[in-house]
Amino acid sequence: MTISNKQASNIAAVLTEALPYIRQFHGTTLVVKYGGNAMVDETLKNTFARDIVLLKLVGINPIVVHGGGPQIGNLLERLNIQTRFVGGMRVTDGETMDVVEMVLGGLVNQDIVSIINANGGRAVGITGKDGDLIRAEKLNLSQPGPETDVPEIIDIGHVGAVAEVNPEILRTLVQENFIPVIAPIGAGPDGTSYNINADLVAGRIAEEVSAEKLILLTNTAGILDESGVTLPTLSANEARALVKSGVISEGMLPKTHCALSALANGVSSVQILDGTAPHALLLEIFTDAGIGTKITNDE
Ligand SMILES: Nc1ncnc2c1ncn2[C@@H]1O[C@H](COP(=O)(O)OP(=O)(O)OP(=O)(O)O)[C@@H](O)[C@H]1O
Ligand SMILES: [Mg+2]
Repeated sequence: MTISNKQASNIAAVLTEALPYIRQFHGTTLVVKYGGNAMVDETLKNTFARDIVLLKLVGINPIVVHGGGPQIGNLLERLNIQTRFVGGMRVTDGETMDVVEMVLGGLVNQDIVSIINANGGRAVGITGKDGDLIRAEKLNLSQPGPETDVPEIIDIGHVGAVAEVNPEILRTLVQENFIPVIAPIGAGPDGTSYNINADLVAGRIAEEVSAEKLILLTNTAGILDESGVTLPTLSANEARALVKSGVISEGMLPKTHCALSALANGVSSVQILDGTAPHALLLEIFTDAGIGTKITNDE
């Protein structure tokens, strides 16, 4: 293949622009949440996998945490299992949890592992149960009761929160140059399985491994304001105000919460990006422009 002078200078410019970022992030840990909504097609999944492999090859240590809401919905539908949502969360009885565990820990997790490995990486798929990575606790939702102001506790079954993270298995894998790929499932004290929102898992893991950066790949261009315009930067206070006013809602809520917690607990930067845009990860990390929404600590 021959390339024109213009192409050559473009390629050289791109590599030169990346150099200071490679130097800055070399040896650091990067936690990437790969949203179920961003796993749109095989081509995109392949570009994601190649980005992850490239990061590893230039000395950055990616840890992938994945979601899989749409994929769980698909299998439940195929199996004719009805579920309902309360406050954006799926009420998960034992039968539903079996499907959640099969889809997240089996299908989705191993799909990402194979694609990374097919692109030259060495990924290892685990759930939060492996190596006792994530201890879960049951999440109880409360909402105002129908007639009184006394909040009503709603049992949403096997939906959990992170109680404790034991990151040793991640350190071992990263040290041996593996790329951990984590399904957001944890075990309660008695071994019961819980499905935990993957954003919250990614945030806690980023805190525990002292990640330099937490990147959340989703299906919107970032956090949008009330008129649908992407906000390039957002301070913690501004983010809290958008939650209060309801501009940030549903699936964006756990992202915002985990971003604020991660920033408060030593993670330097949190970025929400459109994972359905090709090479979103590389563009964010290696170019001057940056994309999506960056959430920062208050001054
Ligand atoms: N202010 C906002 N800006 C952008 N998106 C918002 C906002 N408020 C709510 N959302 C919703 O949040 C969604 C993203 O979260 P969602 O949980 O659906 O995806 P995900 O976390 O990437 O996937 P998964 O939950 O499977 O891991 C967006 O598609 C949008 O509908
Ligand atoms: Mg989500």
